[in-house]
Amino acid sequence: MNVVCIGAGYVGSVTAAAFAEWGHHTTVVDIDPRKIELMNAGQSPIYEPGLETLIARHAGTRLFASTAYDGIRDADVVFIAVGTPSTPSGGADTTYVAAAARRIGEHLNGERFTVIVNKSTVPVGTADLVASLVEEASGLQEGTHFAVASNPEFLREGFAVLDVLGPDRIVVGTGHDRTRSVLRQLYERLLSAAPATVYFETDVRTAELIKYASNAFLAMKISYVNEMARLCEAVGANALELAHGMGLDSRIGGKFLQVSSGWSGSCFPKDTQELALLGRHYDCELSLVEAAIASNERMHRYCIDKLRRRLKTLNGKRVGILGLTFKPDTDDARVTQAAAMIRALLEFGSQVRVHDPQGMEMFRRYYPELSVRYCGKAEETAHGADALLLLTHWEEYRSLDWPGMHAAMRQPYILDTRNFLHPPALQALGFRLEGLGVERSAFG
Ligand code: NAD
Ligand code: UGA
Repeated sequence: MNVVCIGAGYVGSVTAAAFAEWGHHTTVVDIDPRKIELMNAGQSPIYEPGLETLIARHAGTRLFASTAYDGIRDADVVFIAVGTPSTPSGGADTTYVAAAARRIGEHLNGERFTVIVNKSTVPVGTADLVASLVEEASGLQEGTHFAVASNPEFLREGFAVLDVLGPDRIVVGTGHDRTRSVLRQLYERLLSAAPATVYFETDVRTAELIKYASNAFLAMKISYVNEMARLCEAVGANALELAHGMGLDSRIGGKFLQVSSGWSGSCFPKDTQELALLGRHYDCELSLVEAAIASNERMHRYCIDKLRRRLKTLNGKRVGILGLTFKPDTDDARVTQAAAMIRALLEFGSQVRVHDPQGMEMFRRYYPELSVRYCGKAEETAHGADALLLLTHWEEYRSLDWPGMHAAMRQPYILDTRNFLHPPALQALGFRLEGLGVERSAFG
């Protein structure tokens, strides 16, 4: 089939490469010429494990990239995978989706039936919006010349290639038989290569809402375990073993029970906000979602307070930050817990040195107002530091020059917000190491 994917970001570039892998003639369209050049040269426009290999395998044969929308004319399926960031009021900004829909409409000529698919995470009702914008721009009629469906994406950054090539489920929302059969045909190769994947068809609005309900549920699960970690600290229990013990119940499951300084990233914060707003808009308060958002903000503050208690005052103290991205194996530092926490440290008068293996460039671009010192090597964050704050559990942080870092610190204190480092080894070096929800010696 001829597939066009609008947007070459974290979702669009992986989706397009996957459709090429499944044998479809695929074109990626983006307004950013840098991403297009990279993809045509067989390179990845983002940092994502395994993506470059996939792109290189198909670039120029089945995978093409362009800044022009011309490929729309011959497309059987067009995916919209552009960003939907939060507006200042917390709702999802559909400006980019609307712009893409208009451009698609301008290029449709009605010679073939085209299915337009919202892959971006979009508010309930956006399929209707896209349909009317395409009708307006093309003069064609939805249902006859084209149709709009919802097919939300559930990939995780850092695992995007694996998630797209073998997802738990594919959710398709449409009311048209013809659209249903086009999309079934599109996914045929995936379903035979990954037989465990469940293909689930529903109506458009339900599909749109499944995406938000799923992300908010995962966010609530993390917030719940983070609150339990705070309770563990108060009563002297062990949050690692608590999570393990809870997860042994197959109804609960062990995934997404890792304690942290809070969930963040370009998706959970904006999607929980949009869902909460939708609930308020329809007079259907989603108090659990609202509570998870508030609890998550308290978690950032809880970590800073813990650091403050240990150092007595943060004013004039030097704090080294290990990890800026919202989780490891990504360069994505767009909406990261690190920014909120660094902002608080600076407000308390601390001097902050930071390191991240992949995310420093993006962090600098998104948070130019945060006056921190960027360190090329993780070890440099320890120079003269009163504390190290580990925020992202990058694997390489396990094997830093810890003896050298101990020697370089003014006070050898580490707050490991991911309970990730190995306490006996660090304690043997003379570090005072604390995690979240656990006794110092009880994690690793
Ligand atoms: P992104 O910012 O990485 O990429 C969006 C791309 O769209 C950018 O390259 C931008 O230049 C391009 N673009 C914007 N307007 C355009 C236009 N009119 N025509 C062509 N290209 C245009 O965003 P992302 O992280 O890939 O997210 C895309 C959507 O997918 C969002 O709705 C997001 O919520 C959702 N989503 C993201 C993830 C994730 O892990 N990042 C996972 C599931 C769903
Ligand atoms: C999340 C969802 O997992 C994807 O299914 C979804 O497609 C995506 O959002 C989206 O809609 O964009 P992602 O944002 O890539 O994926 O990252 P996650 O792995 O879900 O982590 C989100 C945040 O929660 C990170 O800050 C992470 O460190 C934190 N987290 C995750 C925890 O604190 N504890 C956990 O147990 C798991």
